[in-house]
Amino acid sequence: MNIVIANNYQEISIQAARLVADQITNKKNTVLGLASGQTPIGMYQELINMFKRGKIDFSEVVTFNLDEYYGLAPEHPQSYYYYMWNTLFKHINIKKENIYLLNGMPENIKQECNQYEYLIQKNGGIDLQILGIGDNGHLGFNEPAIGLNSKTHLVNLSEETIQANSHYFNNIQEIPKQAITMGIGTIMKAKKIVLLASGRKKSHAIEKTINGPVSTEVPATILQLHPDVKLLIDKEAASQL
Ligand code: PGA
Repeated sequence: MNIVIANNYQEISIQAARLVADQITNKKNTVLGLASGQTPIGMYQELINMFKRGKIDFSEVVTFNLDEYYGLAPEHPQSYYYYMWNTLFKHINIKKENIYLLNGMPENIKQECNQYEYLIQKNGGIDLQILGIGDNGHLGFNEPAIGLNSKTHLVNLSEETIQANSHYFNNIQEIPKQAITMGIGTIMKAKKIVLLASGRKKSHAIEKTINGPVSTEVPATILQLHPDVKLLIDKEAASQL
């Protein structure tokens, strides 16, 4: 793993945006795997700034998002569909038909998951996957477990994740207890992976990801087995190394 320790969140965001921009410059029809949550917001803002300065053209870019809450409609303000449109897509020149997001209210969950895997393959696979990391080491919504699903699937959220995301909702009852997520195999098939982490609360997960034994109990440790991973973290997230 290539580990880059930046001074602060702003530096992570700028460096991550540059990696994305370089990828798109090298391959106009890049397939990006995108993450939601607090961590990538700065990167998305920087990408929008670069787009406005004419430094990136998203017109041929294709995106697939990592995950979605199960039971939230796209128009729900806490859905990742809503997040992605408002945080990035509506500000750039990406084509609507090139954006793939999981449907949180599918008629047939198995079909939704299988179709997503099919569409990723049909588009040539993910060139660059952006990841955050949970305080518990989860990737996407692949939670610590004795076994992990390889492909896109429905998952029960851990108590820790429900607590960590509770501040986005009015009360804990409103938080979905399940989500649809790309599987670990889906993520590991990406040609390149960049994981972003900021802040002291991520430091234990980061320490295990780098130094720990590969274990499904800390899903991010599986990245040790990927040939092209960059961890872009700030000093606080690196404080346990
Ligand atoms: P965060 O979430 O970026 O909001 O910290 C990351 C994650 O839980 O994977």
